[in-house]
Amino acid sequence: MRTELNREKMAQLGELTVGIAHELNNSIGYIGSNLGSLRRYSEALIRLVQRVEPHLAPEARARWQAELAAARWDFIAADLNNLLSETQTGADHLKHVVADLKVLARSSPSTESASVDACVDSALTVLAHQVKHRCVVERQLAAPRALVMVRSQVMQLVINVVLNAVQALPNTGGTIRVTTTDDGRSVTLVVADSGPGVADQLGATIFEPYVTTKASGTGVGLALGQQIVATHGGTISVDRCPRLGGARFTVTLVAANGRRSETQEA
Ligand SMILES: Nc1ncnc2c1ncn2[C@@H]1O[C@H](COP(=O)(O)OP(=O)(O)OP(=O)(O)O)[C@@H](O)[C@H]1O
Ligand SMILES: [Mg+2]
Repeated sequence: MRTELNREKMAQLGELTVGIAHELNNSIGYIGSNLGSLRRYSEALIRLVQRVEPHLAPEARARWQAELAAARWDFIAADLNNLLSETQTGADHLKHVVADLKVLARSSPSTESASVDACVDSALTVLAHQVKHRCVVERQLAAPRALVMVRSQVMQLVINVVLNAVQALPNTGGTIRVTTTDDGRSVTLVVADSGPGVADQLGATIFEPYVTTKASGTGVGLALGQQIVATHGGTISVDRCPRLGGARFTVTLVAANGRRSETQEA
């Protein structure tokens, strides 16, 4: 019953997310194309201002220079470029976040070609707000090979494990280390943190549904993660990280090689 309700809630959330992503996409679309025009117009304007001076009589030239100085024209011309570039970077980032959210909200588990590294990047983008100012995330990604996978599920798996790591850290912060390796047969993802480690009494029950030590936890994150790993022919285990001192989750995914798809390269 609880699982059913949960699934229904997730489906509603998915629909809402797709709706919001669609709305955002429209705005991002015109922000992007307007930015292109704004850059061209500002370059034309800067060229025009430069061309004025040679046509002026000496007295008018002095007045023109004084006007430019009073308006801090040199600063404006340089800053215009910076502002446009920064805004473009922000718009590009938004585009990626929305694309990642759309993948995550997919309700049909269709397989596609994607790399574990791309999933980690997308997951960390979606989690950026939770992670920012709270901890240092070290990432060492070396699994760019495209595999056949349900991308939204692998992203969800990474999100669940990394979010647990964030939640395990004390208020003073800490470190989370995300690494991927590929031995050509399987890809291994390791998420380790500098928190207190998994409570002794939990043991192997940690992957069972509804096992939680959090006041507001539902205890489904790792159960879902284990299901996802199983459907991708892999394993998930936990131990203690000798370097960081907290929990260390090791996920191995054995999936067929995938053709590099457009989604993956986007
Ligand atoms: N990185 C970690 N460090 C310490 N304990 C952990 C870590 N990850 C998971 N756990 C323990 O495992 C329990 C189960 O995790 P799981 O993700 O399944 O559920 P949850 O985080 O409690 O709730 P939910 O994910 O449904 O919001 C957690 O409540 C916590 O006690
Ligand atoms: Mg969790």
